Amino acid sequence: MVTLLPHAPAMALRRWLGLGLSVLLCFSLGCALEKKVVKSKVGEKVGLPCCHEIPSSESLHNYRVYWQKNTTDVVTAYAEGKKMYEHIQFPQRYENRTEMDTRNLTLWISPVEILDNGSYQCVVQHFRHSQNSYVLCDERVTLIVTADFSDPNVTAEVFANSCESAEMVVRCSSHGGFPKPKISGALNNMSVEWNARWVSKSSLSLYNVTGEVQLNVTKDTEFSCTIEYDGFTKSTSLLLKKTNDCVVPTVSPSYNVITASSIIIIVSLLAVTLAARYFPRHVCSHCCKPQDSVEEDVKECTKPMSSKVSSETSSV
Ligand SMILES: *[C@@H]1O[C@H](CO)[C@@H](O)[C@H](O)[C@H]1NC(C)=O
Ligand SMILES: *[C@@H]1O[C@H](CO)[C@@H](O)[C@H](O)[C@H]1NC(C)=O
Ligand SMILES: *[C@@H]1O[C@H](CO)[C@@H](O)[C@H](O)[C@H]1NC(C)=O
Ligand SMILES: *[C@@H]1O[C@H](CO)[C@@H](O)[C@H](O)[C@H]1NC(C)=O
Ligand SMILES: *[C@@H]1O[C@H](CO)[C@@H](O)[C@H](O)[C@H]1NC(C)=O
Ligand SMILES: *[C@@H]1O[C@H](CO)[C@@H](O)[C@H](O)[C@H]1NC(C)=O
Ligand SMILES: *[C@@H]1O[C@H](CO)[C@@H](O)[C@H](O)[C@H]1NC(C)=O
Ligand SMILES: *[C@@H]1O[C@H](CO)[C@@H](O)[C@H](O)[C@H]1NC(C)=O
Repeated sequence: MVTLLPHAPAMALRRWLGLGLSVLLCFSLGCALEKKVVKSKVGEKVGLPCCHEIPSSESLHNYRVYWQKNTTDVVTAYAEGKKMYEHIQFPQRYENRTEMDTRNLTLWISPVEILDNGSYQCVVQHFRHSQNSYVLCDERVTLIVTADFSDPNVTAEVFANSCESAEMVVRCSSHGGFPKPKISGALNNMSVEWNARWVSKSSLSLYNVTGEVQLNVTKDTEFSCTIEYDGFTKSTSLLLKKTNDCVVPTVSPSYNVITASSIIIIVSLLAVTLAARYFPRHVCSHCCKPQDSVEEDVKECTKPMSSKVSSETSSV
């Protein structure tokens, strides 16, 4: 009669299967060296291979098989050819998501969840006679669960533009991936220091990531943002344009303005000069001629004229 402790199913199962042996087996067979790794994405179906295929001449009835995760959870167990439901407390999250192939003992999980990431172990026990049983094999499989990040979204916002450089903030964001990614940026293939931020509900849920960097761009430059997670990479490039509207088209209009204004100044100066030269004479001929009788008036009239002429000649 087998009794299992509900809160220590793995320990209980080990006792049940006599699995002090499994640890020994593992050392002697070099389990740790040939650890299998299976990768899967969230939502997909994955098969974790076991270590034995039941020959067609035999049936599952002569075997006991169990799959455990990380030595703490019993995922599924078979005895006498049937799935065991009694005596073992199966975590509910495996219910309806797991299935074992009754021939090669592969454990199928569908759909895969982030929490499924971890180390699994399959143990196969064989019965020849009811009293004579032994552990046939024992296999550890690591399941690495990943979730794809969205293609990085790169945006640039220019906040200061001068002839020499454009200062801009470049942002890169990607969401819905797992595990926690690395985010890197490169400017013409030179890496830049990001101000990175990760958002996730917990260490075992999907991540959102954003990176931000302030740049001075002096010419058109290729910027790329790369998200790396468990060997996968997603990358997006953006051409950062340096709007050089100050080089030729902006400089020449300012020269034109200077030229135009200096022409106006010169012309008006000339006008003043000419006016000063001819206008006083004209006035004097008007004011002096009819008043011949008064000498003092003539003197007053000619004096300023001569002084003006002299001042003009000196200035010209
Ligand atoms: C086990 O059998 C299934 C189909 O019955 C197959 O898809 C799977 O690849 C097999 N696994 C191994 C480890 O042989
Ligand atoms: C596996 O179990 C050990 C002990 O119960 C625990 O400390 C560890 O965090 C678990 N690892 C994972 C990946 O769940
Ligand atoms: C599993 O499926 C059965 C039958 O479809 C259903 O009654 C049960 O509620 C399901 N369990 C979970 C945890 O979804
Ligand atoms: C997934 O499980 C493996 C094996 O236990 C472990 O090394 C790895 O750190 C786990 N990954 C995460 C993101 O928890
Ligand atoms: C990229 O980000 C910008 C600004 O945050 C947003 O307006 C735009 O919709 C995003 N594009 C995509 C494809 O997500
Ligand atoms: C930079 O670009 C060159 C070719 O354009 C390439 O060979 C090199 O690996 C790149 N360097 C980095 C750090 O990406
Ligand atoms: C991650 O981004 C998605 C889409 O932008 C959003 O719906 C989700 O709430 C974000 N997750 C967290 C943990 O912020
Ligand atoms: C960018 O250039 C401006 C002026 O050319 C300078 O004041 C600023 O510190 C620079 N910023 C960075 C991030 O190099």
